[in-house]
Amino acid sequence: MKVVLAYSGGLDTSIILKWLQEEYDAEVIAYAADVGQEEELDGLPEKAKNTGASKCYVEDLREEFARDFVYPMIRAGAVYESGYLLGTSIARPLIAKRHIEIAREQGAEAVAHGATGKGNDQVRFELTFYALEPGIKVIAPWRNEGFFQSRTEMMQYAEQHGIPIPVSAEKPYSMDRNLLHISYEGGVLEDPWNAPPKDMFLLTTDPEDAPDGAEEITIDFERGDAVALDGERLEPLPLMQKLNGIAGRHGVGRIDLVENRFVGMKSRGVYETPAGTVLHRAREAVEQITMDREVLHQRDAIMPRYAELVYNGFWFAPEREMLQAAMDRAAQTVTGTARVKLYKGSCTVTGRRAERSLYDADIASFEAGGDYDQADANGFIRLNALRLRVGSLKEQDAKG
Ligand code: ARG
Ligand code: SIN
Repeated sequence: MKVVLAYSGGLDTSIILKWLQEEYDAEVIAYAADVGQEEELDGLPEKAKNTGASKCYVEDLREEFARDFVYPMIRAGAVYESGYLLGTSIARPLIAKRHIEIAREQGAEAVAHGATGKGNDQVRFELTFYALEPGIKVIAPWRNEGFFQSRTEMMQYAEQHGIPIPVSAEKPYSMDRNLLHISYEGGVLEDPWNAPPKDMFLLTTDPEDAPDGAEEITIDFERGDAVALDGERLEPLPLMQKLNGIAGRHGVGRIDLVENRFVGMKSRGVYETPAGTVLHRAREAVEQITMDREVLHQRDAIMPRYAELVYNGFWFAPEREMLQAAMDRAAQTVTGTARVKLYKGSCTVTGRRAERSLYDADIASFEAGGDYDQADANGFIRLNALRLRVGSLKEQDAKG
C-alpha cells in the first residue's frame, strides 16, 4: 500500500511515519505544507528519508493560503463564538486539498494525518479528503487501537527505531502556527483559571511592554479585501506579513477563551492573531460607510453560520460556497480606507472614508437641510406605534 502522510518532522509524525511502514507494510510518502508556520523546512526531506519515507514533498502554500482562504474568510467577517478568528480552522482545508492532490499524483490509495481523535482538526482534514476524493482511505493512527497508548511507549519506540528525540524541553502546551495566527491549547492551559505563561506568546509583545507611543496606520479595501497598507499596494501574503509585524509589536490580537469543539467538548484556547484582528476592525470601519443597512444586517445574521461551517470543517461544502456567494455580494461595495491606531494591545478605529460613501453629512447633520424632512417622522412614528398603542389599550380595558 502507498500512503501519503502529513509530516512535520516532529516526534509524533516521525513515529507515525515509521509505524505506518511496520503496521501496514506501506510505502510512505511524506508531505509538509508551509502555511507560514516559520518552521525549519530545509532539512525535512533528509529527515523523512532517514525515517524511511520513499519521498518527501515540501510545499509552499502561503500565497494560496492568504489569497484563497484567509481573504475570503475575512471578507465574510467570520468570527467563531466569543472572538476566535479561525486561524487553524481555515488552514486545514488547504493543507488537506494539497494532500489529496499529492495522493493522486503518486497513485496512493491512502492518506494519513497526526491529529488526535478528540479534536476539530481530524474532522476538518477528513471532511476535505472525502469531499475531494470520495474513495480515499484515511488512516488516523491516534484513533487506532493498535497505536501507542502512552508517551513512555512512544519514546521507547522512537529510541528503538533511531528516531531523534528533540533535545529542547517540550512546551507545557500545544501550538499551531500559521500566517494568520498561533493557537495555544492543552497542558497548563487546560485549567481555564490558569493565566497563560508570560513567555508563551511569539507573535505579539505583551501589551504592558509595548511601545509608549501609539502608531497610526491606514488600510485600503477593495470589495472587502485589504489591498494597501499605508498607501503601499501589497498582495495578500506580504500585506499580512507586514501587518503582523506592526500589530504584533503593539501587542494587538491576543484573546483567551473557552470554545465549543465540533466533537462536543469545551476547550480552552489562547490565540494571537495580529494582522487578522486589525483587518477585521478596519474592514468593519469601511463597511460602516459603504454597506447598505439591510445588507449589513443580513450579513451579520448569517455570519455566525458561516463561521461555524469554517470551524466545523465544511469549507469544501455546497452550503459554505452558497454563503460565500452571499458574503462576496455583500462585500461588493466595501471599497474605501480605514485609519486605525495601535497602542498597547488595542486597535482603535480613528477614521474611515470612501469615494462612494453612503454616509451623507447633510442628511445626518443636526442643522436643517439635506433631503430629509423632519415632518416625515410624525407619520413614521405614529404608524410604527399603532400596534403598541392598540395592545396597550386592550390591556388597560381588560384591567377595567
Ligand atoms: N481550537 C482551535 C481550532 O479548533 C485550534 C486548534 C489547534 N490545533 C492544533 N493541532 N494545535 O481551530
Ligand atoms: C488535535 O486534537 O489534534 C488538536 C486539537 C484540535 O484538533 O482541535
